[in-house]
This record gives sequence, C-alpha cells and structure tokens, in this order.
Amino acid sequence: MQTKATTSEPASQMLSLLNACLTTQALHVAARLGIADELKAGPRGIAELSAALDAQPDALDRLMRMLAGIGVFSAGEGGTYQLTPLGETLQTDGPKSVRDWALYIGAAAPWSAWGHLYESVKTGTPGFVLAHGMPTYDFLEAHPELAASFNRWMSKQSDQQNAAIVDAYDFSKFQVVADIGGGQGSTLAAVLARYPSLRGILFDKPSVVAGSAPLDASGVRVRCDVVGGDMLEAVPGDADLYIIKRVLMICSDAEAARVLRNCAAHMRSGRKVLVVEMVMPPVGEPGPATTFDILMLLANKGGRIRTEAEFRALFAEAGLKLDRVIPTRSPNVLLEGTPA
Ligand SMILES: C[S@@+](CC[C@H](N)C(=O)[O-])C[C@H]1O[C@@H](n2cnc3c(N)ncnc32)[C@H](O)[C@@H]1O
Repeated sequence: MQTKATTSEPASQMLSLLNACLTTQALHVAARLGIADELKAGPRGIAELSAALDAQPDALDRLMRMLAGIGVFSAGEGGTYQLTPLGETLQTDGPKSVRDWALYIGAAAPWSAWGHLYESVKTGTPGFVLAHGMPTYDFLEAHPELAASFNRWMSKQSDQQNAAIVDAYDFSKFQVVADIGGGQGSTLAAVLARYPSLRGILFDKPSVVAGSAPLDASGVRVRCDVVGGDMLEAVPGDADLYIIKRVLMICSDAEAARVLRNCAAHMRSGRKVLVVEMVMPPVGEPGPATTFDILMLLANKGGRIRTEAEFRALFAEAGLKLDRVIPTRSPNVLLEGTPA
C-alpha cells in the first residue's frame, strides 16, 4: 500500500498541475460573469443566479461546483452558493480585488499567446508575437477593451503594493519625482499623498496617461504634470528622483539600458533613480518571480525578470551605479542608483 501511495502521488500532483489551465479559465469565466458581485448581497440558488447572469443553469451549477471544490465559493443553506474570502477577490471593487487580472489572463487573445509557449521556448520569440504578430503593448494599443482591464489591473496591483514601497523608502529629500512608465499614476499618487510638499511627473504612453484617474482620486493632480511620450526616446528632465516601476521587466536589455540612460542624461549630483522590480531568486527558491519571467517571455521581446547582478550590469551600461538594494514587504525590491 505504502509503495502504491508514493508512486501515485507525483502522478496525481502532476495531473493537478496539468489541469490548472481549466482552473484559470473557470476563474476567468466567474469573473466575466460577475458571479462574485452577484453573491455580494448573500447566498443565491442556481435558478436565481443563472437568471441574473444569463447563464445556462446546469452549466453554471457545474462551474460553481468546481470552484466550490477549490474554496472560491461554499455551499449555503438549501442548495445555495455563497462567497468565501477567496471568492471575494473576484468582486469588481474592494482593495483585494484581482478581478481585472482574471479578466485579462483568460481572455481569448492572451490565452492564445500562452498557447505558443512551446515555440517561444524553441525560438525565444514571444507567444504574443507568434499569436498576434505584435508584442503585448502594441496589441493593447489596438484593443482598448482588453487594455482597459489590463490597465485597471496595473493600477489595482500597484494599489495593493504601494504602501510597502512608500514605507520602505524615504522620499522626503526630493522635490520632484517622475514615474517613468508610471501607468495611470497609482504609485505616484501614493508617494505624493504621503509627502505633501513633493511634486510629481507621470510619464507613460499617451493612450495610458489619458486615463490617469488615480491622481484625481487621491487629490494630488494639482501637484502633478502628466506627460505622454516614449521612454525609449526621451523622458522629462525636471525630476530629482526617477521611479521606474515594473517597466524594465517588459524591456530587452538594450531597451532597459536605453530607458536608464534617458533618465541618467538628466541626473546631476544628488539625483537618483529608483527601479522597483521583482528580482530573480536563486534556482529552486519559491516565489512569483519565475512565473512572471515566463509571462515576460511570452509577452514582449527580451522582457525578463533579472537577477541583482544583471541589474548591476544594466545600471553600469547606462552610466549609473547600483548603490542600494532595499527589500519591501511586497514581491518588489527597490534598486537605488546614482550617476557612476
Ligand atoms: C508593467 S506596466 C507597469 C506600470 C506601472 N509602473 C506599475 O507598476 O503599475 C509597464 C508600463 O510601461 C508602459 N510603457 C511601455 N512601453 C512604453 C514606452 N515606450 N514609453 C512609455 N511607457 C511605456 C506601459 O504603458 C505600462 O504602463
């Protein structure tokens, strides 16, 4: 019996891993249908739920049953389903919501890109390019609806990690902070909100900064310039701190060095760059970095999660030196640099 259990265990563990793609799709569908929002008011039966969501009752029941099996929903009184704390993260609102990522990762276009991982591993070409003829960010420019959920998730994910960044670093010695590739301004808003005398520059693609709602929501827009442009060409010149958060991971080494060099071009003494990224841990160490690295392989040519040594080399190539590596209580690390 003992031998049988130990030999079957790796196989069943592997089957669970293999079938995880169906879990991703089931979570995507639950997010898309808005089941967690629908259950916010309390437990619902399948008849009521399927009518509200315009879904086929038997198929919806099977989806709910599967997701209840992994703790997303639980059985309530009289054949109803109710939300669990895990299921609440699929609600549209709330600080812990991951719904926008569920909408994005399982959507048809990204899904077909993930399906090209084999060719990506054989050739190094991103799955997105193989599936759609262009890397992620170009594709998003051309598909505003998908871009909306992606950009909302970028802001939401930032919201969930901002406090850890603002707590880990002293921004008080700066006058103007520029956030390069700052998305819709979630991180910059958090920094400016904590430091009332600080001014900010939000810099990203024009189509992205057009939706810079977080600056309004936190009341800091009056202290902030919003600039659309291409970070590979040039970045605004008036900052004494350049934040580059989760941007170099989407770049090739040559592009990343260019972005850093464009910041370094404005850096007189006392000015700093603060790269906020995940850092690749030693092989075999758990954590989100390795999965993100595969996401980067699939999404953008040359995108990757880098080791500390790789960042040090990139900084040097851009005429910067990496002075400090500061951990945060989020998956991000702060890499502070000054002119070499
Ligand atoms: C992974 S997102 C990170 C966003 C934000 N910094 C954060 O942490 O949530 C990368 C950002 O880089 C921006 N980006 C990509 N290419 C760019 C370019 N050439 N010029 C300016 N921004 C760019 C994207 O629009 C996107 O907002």
